[in-house]
Amino acid sequence: MAKVAQQMVEQSGIDVKELVEKLVRAAAAEFTTYYYYTILRANAIGFEGEGLKEIIEDARLEDRNHFEALVPRIYELGGELPRDIRDFSNVAACPDAYLPERDRGNGNESTSARVGFTSGGTEEAKQAISEVKQGVEQGNIRPMLQVLVEAERCAIRVYTDICNMTFGKDHRTYELSLAILNEEIEHEAWFSEFLGEGPSGHFRRGVPGESPYTSRFLVVPNGHNGK
Ligand SMILES: [Fe+2]
Ligand SMILES: [Fe+2]
Repeated sequence: MAKVAQQMVEQSGIDVKELVEKLVRAAAAEFTTYYYYTILRANAIGFEGEGLKEIIEDARLEDRNHFEALVPRIYELGGELPRDIRDFSNVAACPDAYLPERDRGNGNESTSARVGFTSGGTEEAKQAISEVKQGVEQGNIRPMLQVLVEAERCAIRVYTDICNMTFGKDHRTYELSLAILNEEIEHEAWFSEFLGEGPSGHFRRGVPGESPYTSRFLVVPNGHNGK
């Protein structure tokens, strides 16, 4: 156990139990988002979907990297992942990024939006998703994009909160959260650009899921550095 490492965080005035809880909730959101983005990417088809597919894949793989990077810190701080994956997904800090019903390609144009919440969703996130639901019900042509952008916006709120809590106190968690935050901000910008909200200012990743900021925290490098 990282005894002194934990002591230092405690002595800085941080409530370690609360921090671990936030990290577990963040890790759960990454894990569930990775799962849901797999479905969204598979359904990003057709003329519009094809362009979207590549950035969903980058965001998907980077969210998996975020999960991988968070887990060691949770254990270092004396925490653990829930034994049951259902308990884990239920505490996710962000809503489930469900595939909108009308995008399922089954010929059924029903617009009943399958947007839902884990118990971990913040009020802000719930509000955002209810707006997505409304969009789907009104026949918005880009409900999937809205699900994606809201998932990233939720992640930005989550990591900004952890950065604010740990800044100048728990240096390791701060650096890790900041690295993830950098990538979440880029993810939001990619999807926001597709929504016509303005240019992201970015160009494509060198390889899918490159994680330019978080890769240095990964135990197994994802290969972008050529090793
Ligand atoms: Fe993420
Ligand atoms: Fe993301």
